[in-house]
Amino acid sequence: MPHNPSLQKDPMEKDHQELSDILMNAPIGIFKTSPQGRFLSANIVCAQYLGYSTPQELTDSVTDIAAQIYADHSDRERVLGLLTQNEEVVNYECRFLRRDGSDFWVNITLRAIRASNGKIAHYQGFAVDITKRKQAEEALLHSEKYYRAVFEISGAAQIIIEDDTTISLANSRFEELTGYSRKEIEGQKSWTEFIHPDDVLFMKKNHQLRRYEPGNAPRKYEFRLIDRHGEMHDIFLCVDLIPGTTQSVASCIDISDRKQAEKERERLQLQLLHAQKMESIGRLAGGVAHDFNNLLQAMSGNVQLLLMGKENDHPDAPRLKTIAKSIDRSAHLVRQLLIFSRKSEAQRQRVDLNREVQEAAKILERTIPRMIRIELQLEKRLLPVHADPAQVELLLLNLGNNAAHAMSNGGQLVIQTKNVVLDENYAHAHAGTKPGRYVLMSVEDTGCGMDSNTLEHIFDPFFTTKEVGTGTGLGLASVYGIVNSHDGIILCLSEQGRGTTFQIFWPVMPGPVEAKHAPPMNTVMRKGTESILVADDEEVIREVTREVLENSGYTVITAASGEEALSLFAEKGRLVDMVILDLSMPGMGGRQCLEELMRINPAARVLISSGYSPDGPAQKISKVATGFISKPYQLAELLAKVRQVLDDTQDTTAERVPSP
Ligand SMILES: Nc1ncnc2c1ncn2[C@@H]1O[C@H](COP(=O)(O)OP(=O)(O)O)[C@@H](O)[C@H]1O
Ligand SMILES: [Mg+2]
Repeated sequence: MPHNPSLQKDPMEKDHQELSDILMNAPIGIFKTSPQGRFLSANIVCAQYLGYSTPQELTDSVTDIAAQIYADHSDRERVLGLLTQNEEVVNYECRFLRRDGSDFWVNITLRAIRASNGKIAHYQGFAVDITKRKQAEEALLHSEKYYRAVFEISGAAQIIIEDDTTISLANSRFEELTGYSRKEIEGQKSWTEFIHPDDVLFMKKNHQLRRYEPGNAPRKYEFRLIDRHGEMHDIFLCVDLIPGTTQSVASCIDISDRKQAEKERERLQLQLLHAQKMESIGRLAGGVAHDFNNLLQAMSGNVQLLLMGKENDHPDAPRLKTIAKSIDRSAHLVRQLLIFSRKSEAQRQRVDLNREVQEAAKILERTIPRMIRIELQLEKRLLPVHADPAQVELLLLNLGNNAAHAMSNGGQLVIQTKNVVLDENYAHAHAGTKPGRYVLMSVEDTGCGMDSNTLEHIFDPFFTTKEVGTGTGLGLASVYGIVNSHDGIILCLSEQGRGTTFQIFWPVMPGPVEAKHAPPMNTVMRKGTESILVADDEEVIREVTREVLENSGYTVITAASGEEALSLFAEKGRLVDMVILDLSMPGMGGRQCLEELMRINPAARVLISSGYSPDGPAQKISKVATGFISKPYQLAELLAKVRQVLDDTQDTTAERVPSP
C-alpha cells in the first residue's frame, strides 16, 4: 500500500520508506510468512495473485498457508524441508490457490530468516505467475504426444530423414519391417542402407530433387527395401519434406504380397489364354484332319487296289507307288494333327514308363547321331500310369529327335523318371492341375536351347524353326496333345545356349504294373472264306473294303448306315461271321449300332474302324467290340486285323452264338 512520505523523517528512514514502496508496488508477488503458516506481510501483486483486494485482507484471511494457498498441501512441507536444509529454495514451481478456489502456476523463491537464537523467525518469498508458460508447455507436450501417436499408429512404417539421409526417427512398424531396433536406426543409419542397390541411385536423386527442386520430386513411388536378413520387400513410398525444414517424412507400405499376387494372377491369366488358344487351334486342326482322314482313306484304298492288280514292272507301278507314299506321308501328318487335337483313339492300359523309356532309347540310339550320349536315370519302383504305350513312344521319339536336332555338335540326352507328389500349392499355381501322385518324366538336352519367343510357340501346330523339309512343326503339337489327353502336364524349361528340359507329369494309376502285350502286327496279306458285313457311310471306303476283302476270298455284304447294317444283321445274322463298323456315321451312328448288334448277338465279332470319335475315346467301345483299327489303315493291316478278330474268337464262338 503506497505510504505518504513524511517530510520530517531522517534520510535513512526516507530511503527505507522508498524501498518499502518499491517492494509494495513490484510487479511480482513479494511476501513474508511465519513458520506457523500465516502471512506476516505481502505486496499488492501478491494479494492480487491470490484473489484478495488488499494485502491487509490477505494477511487477515489466511490462517493456514498449507491448506489455503498450496493447491497440493504437501508442497508446503516439501518447501519447508528444503528451506531447513539449504536456507533457501530457488525457482520452485507449484500450483497456488486463489481465494475462490481456482488455481494457477507459480514459480517461488524463498529464504529462511533466522533469529539470534538460530531458530527460523520467518520466511521471505517471491512469487511469479507462470500459468501462461505452463499452459504453453503443456500444449506443446500434448501436441508432441499427439503427433507421435499419429506417427506410430498410421499403419505405415514411418521415418524422418535428415538432410544427410540419416534416419532421425523411426516408428515401430519400421522396426518390424527392417528387423532393426529404433536404437540401431535412429541417428545411426542412413536411409540408403535399406534400399536395394538397383534403386539407390534414383532414390538419392529424388532426395536431392526434393530439397532443390521440390516441384519436380515425385512424392509417391515404389522401390525395393532390403531388411536385416537380406530379404527384399516391395514398398510403396509416400515421402515429402516437413515444411520449413530440410527433413523429410517417409511412409513405407509393404506391398510384397500384393505384388506377388499380381504376378501370380498374370501368370495364371497367361496360362489360361494359352490353354484357350490351344483348345481352339485343336478344334480347327481336329476338324480339318478328320475330313482329310476320310479323303485319304478313299485315295489310299483305291491306289492299293490298283497296285494289287499290277506286276512290279507295270509302267504305272512307280507312279502309283509314289502316290501311295504321298498318301502315307499325308496320313502321318493327319494322324499327328488328330493326336494334337486329342481326336485320335488312344488305347490305354497300365504302363510302366521305365520300360517305354528303355524301348524308346533303343530306337533313338540307332537313329540319332553317335556323338550324342543317351543317359537314363530311372526310378526303381516307378508307379504305373494309365497310358497308350504307342503314344508314349511317339512322344519320347519326338522329344528325343528334337533334342538331337538341337545338339548338332553332340551333347548329352538325359531321360529321367521319378515318382512325385504335386500338392495343393502346385496345383493352384498351374491351372487345370489336380493335386496327387504323378510320374515325372523329364527329357533334358545340352543343346542350343530357345529364346522366349520360340518357347512361347513350340506347341503350336506347324510352328517350326527348321528349314523347309526338315521340320513339320507337328512334333511338339502331338506331344502336347498326348500329354493333355492323358490328363498330364507338360512344362518346357529352356534358355538360349543352355539346353532344354521337358518335364511331363503323368497321373499315377493305382495298382500293380501289368505286362504289356501288344500283338505283333502281321503284315502278310491274310486270306479267308468267312462272310463279312461292312458298314460305312462313305461309298468309296465301302467299295474299296469290299473289293480287297473279296479279293482275299471273303464274302462281303455292305451297309451304308447303322440302320441298314442292323436290318441286314437281323436278317442274315447267322451267315455273318464278323462286322466291320465305322463309328462316325450319320443317323443312329456306329456307337448305337454296335450296342444293337450286341443285343441281337452278344457274341458278334465287330471290328471298329475309326479315325476319330466325336463323343470321346473309343476304348469304352473297344471293350464291347472285338477289335479296333484306326483310319486311315493299310489294307494289309485291315486283312491282318480281320484275321485276328476271326481267329481270336473262333474257339469260343460255339458257346457264344445262340443255337438256331
Ligand atoms: N530340344 C529342343 N531344343 C531346342 N529347340 C527345340 C527343342 N525342341 C523343340 N524345339 C523348337 O521347337 C520347334 C517345334 O518343334 P516341333 O514341334 O517338334 O517341330 P519341328 O521339330 O518339326 O520343328 C522346333 O522347330 C525348335 O525350334
Ligand atoms: Mg520335332
